Amino acid sequence: MPHKKDSDAFGLALMDFLKGKSFDLVVERDDGYVDVDNVLGYFQEYRDWPLHQKTVMKLAKGRVLDVGCGAGRHALHLQSKGLPVLGIDASPAAIRVCRKRGLAKARAVSIERFRAKPGQFDTVLMMGNNLGLLGNPHSARRLLRKLFDITSDEGRIVAETMDPYRSKNPDHRQYHRLNRRRGWMPGLVRIRIRYRCHLSSWFDYLFVSKREMERLIAGTGWHVFRYADSDGPPYAVVLEKVPGRSPARS
Ligand SMILES: C[S@@+](CC[C@H](N)C(=O)[O-])C[C@H]1O[C@@H](n2cnc3c(N)ncnc32)[C@H](O)[C@@H]1O
Repeated sequence: MPHKKDSDAFGLALMDFLKGKSFDLVVERDDGYVDVDNVLGYFQEYRDWPLHQKTVMKLAKGRVLDVGCGAGRHALHLQSKGLPVLGIDASPAAIRVCRKRGLAKARAVSIERFRAKPGQFDTVLMMGNNLGLLGNPHSARRLLRKLFDITSDEGRIVAETMDPYRSKNPDHRQYHRLNRRRGWMPGLVRIRIRYRCHLSSWFDYLFVSKREMERLIAGTGWHVFRYADSDGPPYAVVLEKVPGRSPARS
C-alpha cells in the first residue's frame, strides 16, 4: 500500500496507543539507518521516570510551557502538582491525546509559529530529547532568543538531550563522520517517521555534548544552572538567564 506522505505519523501512533492498539514505529535516518521504536515510553508515569528526569523536573516552577509535549507525561505531572501548564506540539494528534488524558491547556502549534507575551512563562520544558528541537546552530540561537523573550526574569529552560559521542554504535559513529564532511554538527540527525501507512516529512533533531551545548547557548542570555546525568548518553540540563544580560541580536 502506498504511504500517506507528510502525515502526523508520530501523533497517530500516540493516539493508537491510547486506544489500546500498539504498533511499532520506524525511525528512518537520511543515511538509510532504521530503528524500531514503541511509544510506550511517552506514557510513562512519574514513578518510572529515570532519576535525571525526576531531578530536573523538580526545578520546574511557576507558569510552564511544555514544548513538544507529546502525550503530555511531563505536563500532566506538573498540572497534578497545581502548576499552570500549556502544552504545545506540532502534532495535532498528540494534542488530541493530551486533551483526552486531561491536560487542560494544549495547543497544536509548532514552537516556530507559537506566539506568547513577553515574560509569559517561568519555565519552558523541552523533555524527552526535545533540546533536539534547537535543530542547528542558527535555528538554536533564534529559538533560544525567542524563549528568552517569552520567559520572566527568573525564567528557566528544563531540557533533555543525549551526548552523541557516548554512543558505541558504529553506524552512529559513521553518521557523525558523514555530518562532519557535509559541514553539519556531528550530532544532527535528519529523520522521518513511518507508522503503519503513514510517513512524516523529514525533520532535523540535534543531539549535543555538554561542551557543544555551552557553545550553542553562549550569547543567547542563557547559562547552565544545573546538569543531571544518567549512566548512558541521556542527560538533562536546567538553563537560567544570565543576570542583567539580554541576548545578542544578530
Ligand atoms: C521525542 S517526542 C517528546 C515528547 C515529550 N516531550 C515526552 O518527553 O514525552 C518529540 C515531540 O516534539 C514534537 N515536535 C517536533 N517538532 C516540533 C516543533 N517544531 N514544535 C513543537 N513540537 C514539535 C513532536 O510532535 C513530538 O510530540
